[in-house]
Amino acid sequence: MQKKSQWWKEAIVYQIYIQSFQDSNNDGIGDIKGIQFRLDYLKDLGINTIWICPFYKSPMHDNGYDISDYQDINELFGSMVDFDELLKEAHLRGIKVIVDLVINHTSNEHPWFIESRKENNSPKRDWYIWRKGDKNNKPNNWESIFGGSVWKYDHNTDEYYLHIFSSKQPDLNWENKDVRNALYEIINWWIDKGVDGFRIDAISHIKKVEGLPNLPNPNNFKYVPSYKMHMNVSGIDKFLLELKANINKHPNIMTVGEANGVTVKDAVTWVHDDDGYMNMIFQFEQYEIKPKDSNEWMDVVGFKKILTKWQNAFENNGWNALYIENHDKPRSISLWGVDDVKFHQKCGKAFALMYFMMKGTPFIYQGQEIGMTNVRFDNINDYKDVAALNLYKFKLQEGNTKESILREIWDNGRDNARTPMQWSTEPNAGFTKGIPWLKVNPNYKFINVEDQLQDKDSILNFYKKLIKIRKSDDLFIHGSFKLLAKNHKQVFAYSRKLGNKKAYIIVNMTKDVAIYYVKGKEILGSDIILSNYDNLIIANSNKIKLRPFEAMLLKN
Ligand code: NOJ
Repeated sequence: MQKKSQWWKEAIVYQIYIQSFQDSNNDGIGDIKGIQFRLDYLKDLGINTIWICPFYKSPMHDNGYDISDYQDINELFGSMVDFDELLKEAHLRGIKVIVDLVINHTSNEHPWFIESRKENNSPKRDWYIWRKGDKNNKPNNWESIFGGSVWKYDHNTDEYYLHIFSSKQPDLNWENKDVRNALYEIINWWIDKGVDGFRIDAISHIKKVEGLPNLPNPNNFKYVPSYKMHMNVSGIDKFLLELKANINKHPNIMTVGEANGVTVKDAVTWVHDDDGYMNMIFQFEQYEIKPKDSNEWMDVVGFKKILTKWQNAFENNGWNALYIENHDKPRSISLWGVDDVKFHQKCGKAFALMYFMMKGTPFIYQGQEIGMTNVRFDNINDYKDVAALNLYKFKLQEGNTKESILREIWDNGRDNARTPMQWSTEPNAGFTKGIPWLKVNPNYKFINVEDQLQDKDSILNFYKKLIKIRKSDDLFIHGSFKLLAKNHKQVFAYSRKLGNKKAYIIVNMTKDVAIYYVKGKEILGSDIILSNYDNLIIANSNKIKLRPFEAMLLKN
């Protein structure tokens, strides 16, 4: 058998949330031509792969994660001709293109669902999950990930359909072979078009617990959080193996699954080098730890423990997807660090170095490379995310104050990461000449690409250096990972080793000075090849004094 290329181990991926990246026609919405316009910027940054979030036909209830035609382009974003052109232009620049594969659910406006809901004996009825109930009595008590029940009543046939996300995102019935085959055909179609891989959305949710039983409800909740009934549920392997067998017919396709709830123990099966279901997964455990304790430090020890566990799991087999941001999470500087003027730049660089040199494929989310931060809108009407709007609605009904709900959205809302890309100091940050679909973060005047390109000390130029260094030595790709100073409450330090080459990454994750005891002479004998301060302070032969968010990369 031909050995499959593992190009994705050397990939540096840039994630594009298309509606917020670059608008080319001034309708206030980013588009495919906008991405094409920015390809040279991306090439210059040094990345070699882009992942584009959904651009398919969609009513945009969940910003494109509700697809109504998998083989057509949303006209807000352009046309298929534009996409083909983008693919060609990206490839010409040596940039591979990964697309989002949303196959747990469709939009309620997908023709499959429209057909399915027509009547009980529709040929597509069983393509979705329909159950009996009555108006006040849902088929079970599961709560949806976006709030409320997972069931939506449909008067057409007097039945309910299941949606684990929004009611406009009905879940496909993966038990039905025709559904799976239809999805595989779509996948093959995109591969034939020339895409290089897929980020597979919500893939750990495709299997539901047999019989969809009620959950115990001792606290008498209206609906009970139901993750364990549809997240990495036993039996999912059959579907994943079939999906993989289909994708593997084509050599060199990269796959990275959004795998909420997949434990490190299961992950070894999910991403095993020889017979894993996919090449990599995104795991979310680090978001379970408390971001900041009473000293306003994040729980550095807890954070290290989780990331190290994932590094160790794949030491000899499997591969990590490394990331600190995406379109569903708050900005990393705001979540784990300090996003004020004083610390912003140091913090952005520290977090960059911290994750970028681990073993795995690094993903950069748009705007992360300039240190974009969370946003605070005072009016709920300025928010667009369905999850935030649902949260607001349900929490108001429960009697919470508007202010307290807004504060929650400020801290955790998904729109934090979705404000338009900050290209320049021009109005709307150079993202659009029209009215942006989501307001621009007012700090674009200080945080933007144009300024950072000019400033040799910018976060952007730091990322460029990081990318260059990472590409320059296979130590950073294949070298083994070892955590140092496991219990240090401020410092995240680790080494990478390949043959006799060794590198050390030492990062003060906090805004306060940290003292780091260096064991042995190795570290101090190495060269500093990247740092976010000008000089190193050696307190004495085995002690380094790390200033706020000081970060350095050393190599022997
Ligand atoms: C995960 C995606 O990242 C998120 O944005 C989306 O809302 C859900 N899956 C549903 O597709």
